[in-house]
Amino acid sequence: MYKKLAVCSLLIAIIALILPNYVSNVIGTIIGSYLFFTNESSNSDGTIFTKEELKLYNGIDNTELYLSILGNVFDVTRGKKHYGPNQQYNVFVGCDASRSFVTGMFGKEDISEEVIDFSKEELSSLNHWVKFYKKEYNQVGKLVGKYYFQDGKPTPYGEKVNKLIKEAELVKEHEKEQLKKFPHCNVEWDANQGSKLWCSNKSGGISRDWVGVPRQYYDVNTKSYRCACIKQDQVNNIGNIKEYEGCDKGSNICFVKT
Ligand code: HEM
Repeated sequence: MYKKLAVCSLLIAIIALILPNYVSNVIGTIIGSYLFFTNESSNSDGTIFTKEELKLYNGIDNTELYLSILGNVFDVTRGKKHYGPNQQYNVFVGCDASRSFVTGMFGKEDISEEVIDFSKEELSSLNHWVKFYKKEYNQVGKLVGKYYFQDGKPTPYGEKVNKLIKEAELVKEHEKEQLKKFPHCNVEWDANQGSKLWCSNKSGGISRDWVGVPRQYYDVNTKSYRCACIKQDQVNNIGNIKEYEGCDKGSNICFVKT
């Protein structure tokens, strides 16, 4: 009997030595399953919250304040004066109210995670808030549901929104570049004189080391003409601009009647 026990122990010890990875994998799986079934499975992005768990982080049931935006959960306890009970932005805590960050509608009935119908501008403004929370507060996990699965991986909906946001940010970046390249003119209107359009090295809020000349510039985003300051050495190379009638084409000031 004792001999059998000794042989068995020896065999187990040898297996454990020969197959350390296997043994640690089994132990890992057991611990992992425990964490998974307790619904607070740890992964590299933190905790996975269910809606019911997140609801408790409202400053009453739980003194900590957590909010979710696009399924990313942040600890905003530090911002108690904004998010605490009875405070202006209390509606955001204990849930995912992504939609309200853009609509500005803070009623309980307005709470929604749905943002797929947002325009590029709205998605970009929503992403501004995501960046704000990433910078100002700590992300403590993810919310299981619309944006993330239980294992922390994004849902197809989450991936779609992410893709739309990336596209929106690219468009915004392009628009910013266009504004730098073709800054707005200064405009002054007078009932007798009409409009005075002129360029300066700060017009359109773009500080630069050149002034430029006013031209009618066709903006493909707004599908309309606006006054833009064009670098003088580029006026002949740009397709979607035209001169203002009756204006000196080399001058940085132009008067137009309409
Ligand atoms: C879509 C509309 C709006 C949203 C989603 C929104 C959201 C927020 C949020 C989340 C905060 C807290 C930021 C933090 O954690 O520090 C905040 C702060 C604040 N908001 Fe709004 N807000 C909106 C519109 C407005 C408007 C229209 C006003 C003013 C008329 C306003 C005035 C303020 C002020 C004064 C603060 C406090 C700033 C500080 O103490 O640092 N908000 N807003």
